[in-house]
Amino acid sequence: MTNILAIETTCDETAAAVVADGWLVKSNVVSSQVQLHQKYGGVVPEIASRAHMEWLNRLIDSALEQARCAFADLDAIAVAHCPGLVGCLIVGVAAAKTLAFALHRPLIGINHVHAHLYGGFLSSKPGGSTSMPEFPALGLVVSGGHTSLFHLHSFVDIRRMGATIDDAIGEAFDKTAAILGLGYPGGAALEQLARQGDANSIDFPISLLDPESLDFSYSGLKTAVRYHLQGRKGEAQSINTRPSQDLADVAAAFQRAAIAPIGVKLRRAMQRYGFRSILVGGGVSANHSLRQVVRQVAEEFAVPVAMPAMAFCTDNAAMLAGLAFHRLEAGCIDSLNLPAIATV
Ligand code: KG4
Ligand code: ZN
Repeated sequence: MTNILAIETTCDETAAAVVADGWLVKSNVVSSQVQLHQKYGGVVPEIASRAHMEWLNRLIDSALEQARCAFADLDAIAVAHCPGLVGCLIVGVAAAKTLAFALHRPLIGINHVHAHLYGGFLSSKPGGSTSMPEFPALGLVVSGGHTSLFHLHSFVDIRRMGATIDDAIGEAFDKTAAILGLGYPGGAALEQLARQGDANSIDFPISLLDPESLDFSYSGLKTAVRYHLQGRKGEAQSINTRPSQDLADVAAAFQRAAIAPIGVKLRRAMQRYGFRSILVGGGVSANHSLRQVVRQVAEEFAVPVAMPAMAFCTDNAAMLAGLAFHRLEAGCIDSLNLPAIATV
């Protein structure tokens, strides 16, 4: 068995995990900083890096303990070294380098966004392994920081084909949720509210960019929601005085407009490149309407789709360890000069 310990500190989740053979999650510990950042309505980089420093060693200990692994049982150390908040990345990268050096184990740097594509191949149950995808595969990452399409030639050759030109889809969910008074981060709460609403009650703009584009844009949608709720010509009505059905309709109509471009771009990419499978990941892949749209596209093109179990949609370290297994097998090992890179 090949045991890989992975460390995740790209943004506001400190996480560590031990995964065997690229799929069996022996432990997956995540410590969310949401409460630390909640009152600011977004992640404060300095607070985030300090929290990573405080928590990381304890999380690594818990990950090893839950996996019933000693340091000596590890075969490699993986870390998310890009993209993210640079002060946060440095904490994880320094810890991973120290362990790799001290234990004489290979160090494997992982792109956090690429790792989201691996969420669908993880399982906590022995015997729960999922067969590997057929390549070339189409990858979709929908998270708080990214909305990207990838062309995967293999798990070690992943190229971006399209991305958001402004806000990420998760950011649009979070900002709309904040306008609706649902707290931060409000993506999941917005989905809940949308269940009681009529998605066709309001025509929010569906941004597709030009007819060939595989990029996304979400800033217009967020602004449209704000204008809709403020009303025109001073008819402003406070959120608190709006009937709850109104707010549910806004949530449902927003969700429809946010997810529609995903279906369009997936179809466009499938038609253009004839991918043999679809892989999806990132926090917003927990959204049931989005999952349904992805399944529909996969059915239309008769290809299999791999989506993460709920526990592996949002940020975690297991997805890093899983992807690292394939890099290790392919001999993609990093030196102790591995840099922390904020944007890629
Ligand atoms: O992947 P993730 O944990 O962090 C990044 O790498 O960005 O994604 C977090 C994002 C947040 O924007 C959150 O609101 C969104 O995922 N999210 C959802 C749902 N669950 C989490 N958005 C829509 N529907 C959901 N059910
Ligand atoms: Zn993420």
